[in-house]
Amino acid sequence: MRKAASPFIPLIPINRKSGRPLHRQIYEAFRSTIVEHNLNCGQQLPSTRTLASELGISRIPVLNAYAQLLAEGYFETRAGAGTFVSSSLPDRATRSERRETSSIKIASGPRRISRASVLLPPYKRAPWSRRHGAFSAGQPALGEFPLKVWANLVVRHARKPVARSLGYGDPMGLKELREVIAVYLRTARGVRCDSQQIMIVSGSQQALDLSARALLNVGNSVWVEEPGYWLARHMLTAAGCRIVPVPVDAEGLNVEAGIKECGNARLALVAPSHQYPLGVTMSASRRLQLLQWAREAGGWIIEDDYDSEYRYESNPIASLQGLDDSCRVIYIGTFSKVLFPSLRIGYVVVPLDLVDHFLAMRHAMDVSPPYLYQAVLTDFIAEGHFARHIRRMRVLYSERRNILVRSLEREFRSLWQVVGDKAGMHLAVSMPERFDDREIAMRAARESLWLWPLSPSYMGKPAHHGFILGFGSTTAAEIPGAVHHLLTLMDTPRNAISATGTATRPGIQ
Ligand SMILES: Cc1ncc(COP(=O)(O)O)c(C=O)c1O
Repeated sequence: MRKAASPFIPLIPINRKSGRPLHRQIYEAFRSTIVEHNLNCGQQLPSTRTLASELGISRIPVLNAYAQLLAEGYFETRAGAGTFVSSSLPDRATRSERRETSSIKIASGPRRISRASVLLPPYKRAPWSRRHGAFSAGQPALGEFPLKVWANLVVRHARKPVARSLGYGDPMGLKELREVIAVYLRTARGVRCDSQQIMIVSGSQQALDLSARALLNVGNSVWVEEPGYWLARHMLTAAGCRIVPVPVDAEGLNVEAGIKECGNARLALVAPSHQYPLGVTMSASRRLQLLQWAREAGGWIIEDDYDSEYRYESNPIASLQGLDDSCRVIYIGTFSKVLFPSLRIGYVVVPLDLVDHFLAMRHAMDVSPPYLYQAVLTDFIAEGHFARHIRRMRVLYSERRNILVRSLEREFRSLWQVVGDKAGMHLAVSMPERFDDREIAMRAARESLWLWPLSPSYMGKPAHHGFILGFGSTTAAEIPGAVHHLLTLMDTPRNAISATGTATRPGIQ
């Protein structure tokens, strides 16, 4: 059972010069606070002794006020527990109703907000993004995470706080964590870095925000992949950038198309290891072309490497940053996919000459990352649990991916083309345009299948309709049934699919 809370002390204005007795002032203050619903039914109240001491008065007027409020039914006492706002007062308005009926009127005159606030679409979860379950994109196998090990490490650090764990931290992040990440990135991801260049952030999203603040001015043009990661686009919108969608084909971002559209862009945002959502890996020649563009145009490249630890048919592909001789790549990684998203820890590898700028910007933003989970994560990596978890998950996801691909082939024959299944925790299927992917995704969500439609990943006219199918959190046993279920939602008899299959087969060109 939860221990009784130490109640908050309500604001009680006491005026010793007013001539009104103190007990009356206390009584009226409580009564009006309760009537205005600023104290909840059943909320615990401070003891008379505590309140008297806080108000700097004797206990007698407080006792008198409490007695009156008890007699009138505003307060109630519970044996051994203390005094509470009566739980039998008439039903309260809900918080939102309260807001509507509030006597506070919004002051007249303009209520100016930023351009970015107007431009950003309102926060609203899409129907297909609401739950965990079959096909939900970007969700790791949370049930497989070694929670016991993690919990022991949390307890170890929470029980033995050191001085620095409670004070302000280094805006770059915990030194020991940066050191183990540097070893990991150099070894497993081919990133050229040392720990001085690594800044700990609260996930890729903050890394993007920080990079935009450090590198971009309002109105700068930025290449983004088309189709691409919608939340990154929102961040760039908030930064006031001109977003230039550059098509992605089977080799990744089409650099020539980008140069043609806007050669002097300030920055290109790419996910070369496993593009989101199509899952393609950027070819070597495109990587070199992109680096050449950045060198010649004085542009920056942000490499978003969010889930490439998992590669199934070859060794993980080395990072783009590792090929960069002119220090134009800002490399971003995250623990959201490889561990769990609520951890909110990621990192940025910053070119050495930019470190001071990123550092000053970070300090001005939120001072430093919180200590506890950085320390826990350091030990999790240093003690080998991280590498072990990745190895286990690679086997698990590989099995899930194989079953998903086979089930799709069996149920959908050649009508759907599977792309991007060589890495990560999702693949994409592309289907003929006559199917409305949003509408099907909406229908699927009503039946607990969490498909992301492909078309909303485009800023312009979608070149492909289809779905992003996550397999990280869908068990091997669930997959065949879920794929069959999906087929029944397509409103198309199976023989019609096989009859039309080859003729309309789409592809990522
Ligand atoms: C392309 C891409 N980048 C990055 C992320 C991870 O973001 P974060 O580290 O903020 O959780 C995601 C999550 O779905 C993603 O799809």
